[in-house]
Amino acid sequence: MKKLLLAGSLALLVFSCSKKGHKAAEGSPSETAGMTESGSKSLSGDQIIETLDCSGCHSVNERMVGPSYQEIADKYSEQDTEILASKIIEGGSGVWGNVPMAAHPQVSKEDAEKMVGYILSLKKK
Ligand code: HEC
Repeated sequence: MKKLLLAGSLALLVFSCSKKGHKAAEGSPSETAGMTESGSKSLSGDQIIETLDCSGCHSVNERMVGPSYQEIADKYSEQDTEILASKIIEGGSGVWGNVPMAAHPQVSKEDAEKMVGYILSLKKK
């Protein structure tokens, strides 16, 4: 119950100030692990990312196997949400190089769009 309330207010927070990197004081990621299948409704985009394998290949500001989230944010805008969400679900390659992005068929479109929202919120000014 406490967790739900927490997640709800975090979601509000994300909505109300997603322009800035305000994320310093979020709850611990381990609390949300393992909730990907259908329990992710109340999670915000960055929390969903933490329950998946994304950070094996991406980090916020450093290029790893894939581009950093900031690079992605700089390249795209909100209009591209749908394209990026389907790329998360279906995978693909050729935009940043030949290394393919892994497909995530278990991720719902809604969750994918939330993750894209989070990634795009990291855009540098
Ligand atoms: C196996 C490594 C790997 C994993 C795991 C991975 N990615 Fe990627 N990702 C990549 C690579 C490589 C690219 C660049 C693909 C390209 O050049 O088209 C990429 C590209 C992207 C892009 C930009 C797509 C584009 O067309 O520009 C987004 C958004 C993204 N990843 C999000 C995610 C999210 C969210 C997750 C977790 C659900 C994730 N990635 C997991 C390797 C990975």
